[in-house]
Amino acid sequence: MAVTGFILFGFVIGHLIGNLQIFAHPDKINAYAHFLEALGPGLWLIRLFLLATLVIHVWLAAQLTLENKAARPEGYQNQITMRATMASRYMRVSGVIVFAFIIYHLLHFTVRKTHGPEAYPNTVLIDGTAVRDVHSMIILGFQDPLISIFYILAVGLLSWHLRHGLVSMFQSIGWRTRTWSNALNKIVLVVCVTYFLGNTLIVAAVMMGQVRIQNPQLAGYACRTDCEICGLHNAAKIVETDDVPIDNQS
Ligand code: HEM
Repeated sequence: MAVTGFILFGFVIGHLIGNLQIFAHPDKINAYAHFLEALGPGLWLIRLFLLATLVIHVWLAAQLTLENKAARPEGYQNQITMRATMASRYMRVSGVIVFAFIIYHLLHFTVRKTHGPEAYPNTVLIDGTAVRDVHSMIILGFQDPLISIFYILAVGLLSWHLRHGLVSMFQSIGWRTRTWSNALNKIVLVVCVTYFLGNTLIVAAVMMGQVRIQNPQLAGYACRTDCEICGLHNAAKIVETDDVPIDNQS
């Protein structure tokens, strides 16, 4: 569990760093997504590896649960928890909810089935190459406050899950010694809170209109009436701004 958990942790941190490019020029995150897509079979290998890692992680968790149950089939007459943290006691629940979130998230942004085929249709040109407009897709994806709140809750649960998972991982590999235990707990807490805030920043920035669509083809597309993110009323402004990728201005 420690090894698979560490690999998955590496992925979520890398994914967050990639997603934080939403705060830079749209070309940045669009080119990054295009780079990943252009890996072709390489990307599929990485996806299969991550999927296998996730399946093994979940399978081992189920094994552990069964072993625990088998070790004490009757259960305690009077259960008093002495030391276990809340995060450790709810690992299975948080794990199952995060797993459900991943399925939704893949359908939302990777397979793009949740909002119909026309929901995020656009491409942009970067250096003459048409690439998917992932920048606008993320902004449109968080237009619905319910979806945004679901993302924040899921990332919160994932951070909570990581808190116990990371501490246990250090325990498993023998690095959680008596001397280091306190410091380690604090470092893990800081990492998990930072991870949560990083993801929440993306969703909150979109919800508050701090990150805006800059693709003029999307002017007025899926806008709330009083929303200035991509309303027709600011289409002209979008085209005039220096922020627009040159290729988009035609
Ligand atoms: C604010 C939070 C997040 C945002 C904005 C976000 C954004 C995205 C986007 C835009 C894609 C599609 C990329 C593309 O098609 O080019 C994606 C894919 C993916 N995301 Fe997230 N994500 C977030 C959180 C998470 C979390 C917490 C997890 C894991 C628990 C996760 C796991 C994945 C996975 C597994 C993929 C599929 C990668 C692939 O196979 O290409 N994401 N995400």
